[in-house]
Amino acid sequence: MGEYYVPDKIQSKYWPHLFKLATKNHRTKFYKHLKLLEVADEARRQLKTEMKIQYDARAEQQRNNPHIAYGLRRNSMHMFIRNTAINRFYNCNLMNSVLYGEKLVLDFGYDENMSYAERKKCVRQAAVVYGFNKVNRDPFHLYFCNLAPDSELDRQLCKAIGNLKTKDCLVTATSRSYLDCFQKEKLVYLSPDCKEDLRTFNCDDVYIIGGLVDQGHAERLTLAKAKREGLRMANLPLSFYFSSNIYAQSLNMDLVFKILLTLKNSNSWEKAFQYIPKNLFRDQVEASQIQDKNIVPRLFSRTFGEIASVLLAGCFPEKSEKL
Ligand SMILES: C[S@@+](CC[C@H](N)C(=O)[O-])C[C@H]1O[C@@H](n2cnc3c(N)ncnc32)[C@H](O)[C@@H]1O
Repeated sequence: MGEYYVPDKIQSKYWPHLFKLATKNHRTKFYKHLKLLEVADEARRQLKTEMKIQYDARAEQQRNNPHIAYGLRRNSMHMFIRNTAINRFYNCNLMNSVLYGEKLVLDFGYDENMSYAERKKCVRQAAVVYGFNKVNRDPFHLYFCNLAPDSELDRQLCKAIGNLKTKDCLVTATSRSYLDCFQKEKLVYLSPDCKEDLRTFNCDDVYIIGGLVDQGHAERLTLAKAKREGLRMANLPLSFYFSSNIYAQSLNMDLVFKILLTLKNSNSWEKAFQYIPKNLFRDQVEASQIQDKNIVPRLFSRTFGEIASVLLAGCFPEKSEKL
């Protein structure tokens, strides 16, 4: 007999999802998930109480300290930087990317294809994408497309990214398809099942990452969708760089995003692939050992002679703004 985990209390927000679950097995798994949430909540509460006790003890100790307390008390010669000032600084970069920068689409049109737990993971990964992009000096202008209003995914995303639907958030979250936002010829769907490798980052193209988590039941959803819509497709050149040394071809959405953003800003696959966790490799390759087999060399760090030779070889990137 297997062990069953049942939560002590089921909050009212979980009942609608529970009623939708068709089989006993699914319900058992969901009970276990709720139980784990309950245990994590309890652990957090205990930690908070312990920290409060420690804080009180420290304060008491300081009060009873007979020695003179040196220092500037609560004064400091450094200006206090508020969160709003930090946000304004980041928004400045984002504003630049909204006006002049490269666009990147996360396609959230796979709500139906994900289970409750997968949807949660997907939202967590989207929040990582948002945070990573925001603190970057040269971020993407992010488009969250096919986000059905009031869907479960929409609700959870708004919870994870508090200001998603406000003016402060420089992400375009829309229920429209990317086909309505961009010219079709510019769109490139990234798919792990595509045979064509992405050679270089083209600033004029708009890349699409599938907002999808499908652990254990991977289907070729993005490949099928891109074919249906007649879009160009590309795969990250993992086999070109690592041959058979890598376990998984299908990477998490946030990892693909980090690779793409680094590639955009450095034009180096070597730097971009440093985000791949070591446990995905069969032999533990040091990131520094990854050979930089860039097809188009990084022009901005080259001498005039080298640039000329690249130009003569007809190997010029499609947009030369970064020269
Ligand atoms: C977890 S993967 C989902 C895989 C899913 N089976 C599919 O059909 O795309 C999430 C997204 O990251 C992107 N992605 C993951 N690995 C990739 C790779 N090796 N090359 C290109 N894109 C990749 C794709 O856009 C994909 O939709």
